[in-house]
Amino acid sequence: MEKKIAGIIESFTEAAKAATDSAAVEKLRVAFLGKKGEISELMKDLKSAAPEQKKEFGQKINLLKKDVEGKLADLAAEIEKKELEALINSAERYDVTMPSSVDTGSYHPITLIQREVEDIFAAMGFTIEDYDEIVDDYHCFEALNIPKHHPARDMQDTYYLDNGQLLKTHTSAAQNAIMRKYGAPLRAIFPGRCFRNEAIDACHENTFFQMEGIMIDKDISISNLIYFMKTMLSEVFQRDVQVRLRPGFFPFVEPGFELDISCQVCGGTGCPSCKNSGWLELCPCGMIHPNVLTAGGIDPEEYTGFAFGLGLTRLAMMKYGVKDIRTFNSGNLKSLSQFESL
Ligand code: PHE
Repeated sequence: MEKKIAGIIESFTEAAKAATDSAAVEKLRVAFLGKKGEISELMKDLKSAAPEQKKEFGQKINLLKKDVEGKLADLAAEIEKKELEALINSAERYDVTMPSSVDTGSYHPITLIQREVEDIFAAMGFTIEDYDEIVDDYHCFEALNIPKHHPARDMQDTYYLDNGQLLKTHTSAAQNAIMRKYGAPLRAIFPGRCFRNEAIDACHENTFFQMEGIMIDKDISISNLIYFMKTMLSEVFQRDVQVRLRPGFFPFVEPGFELDISCQVCGGTGCPSCKNSGWLELCPCGMIHPNVLTAGGIDPEEYTGFAFGLGLTRLAMMKYGVKDIRTFNSGNLKSLSQFESL
């Protein structure tokens, strides 16, 4: 028995030296500790041992078993460590801290400018409202003092649905609903996508974005309008931007204006973006017509207000120096993804 134990220790030590991977360690475990392994065989011998030797041999076999188990565990841990190191250093390694190679998206420049303008107006106490893109004739025109067959409709031809609804031509289409929702006094901006049946060129698109704003209270005047527009533009451009007011006609304001800003693409010398005029029509505006206030459930005798329809797409062109409005709807990621960092 003594000899057998010494023999097993020797052969185990030899076999352990040769084991270099976890599969070999498992084989070793089966060979020595398995049901038919060397140590189990030894247990069988124990049965035929003389009774006075049984206890002693039993203890020795147990010690041997513990010894082999311990050595196997050490060996397995050592080999596992080596295998892990090899994997880390191999081409197969997987490093979760590595930057991803998958392209990430970026915000569209219109979204960026919209959020910027929203922040500016929110800081001045305006609420931000959302409104439908498909509207009815009443909200887009009639409630805005543009009855059927009014010549002003000519400027805003759009896309009509079979059920008589239409794609809104301007964010003013939300004025009536917002006046009815909140009543006066009221300060709100409502950005939105607008559609017109346009001949497309470098500065006209059939799909574009506006940001409407209305402020209704007692004693609101044109000077309030000018103040808010100037504050917003100088925030957006981070400098004093040249503006000019021209009379403009819109049936839902009286008086009405066109607020132009000097073209930021060419600096005012003239380019295709500004049709060589040096100015860009940016923000039609005016004092809300009494008929529009009445339609919105607000008493024009008590309240006055201003409205503006900021050309968000134009503003993005100016701010980012985009020469062609078609870039925005192009889906060209090479052009669109550059704006995120600006
Ligand atoms: N809704 C008008 C347009 O798109 C612009 C506008 C808005 C004019 C508000 C005056 C006041 O042409």
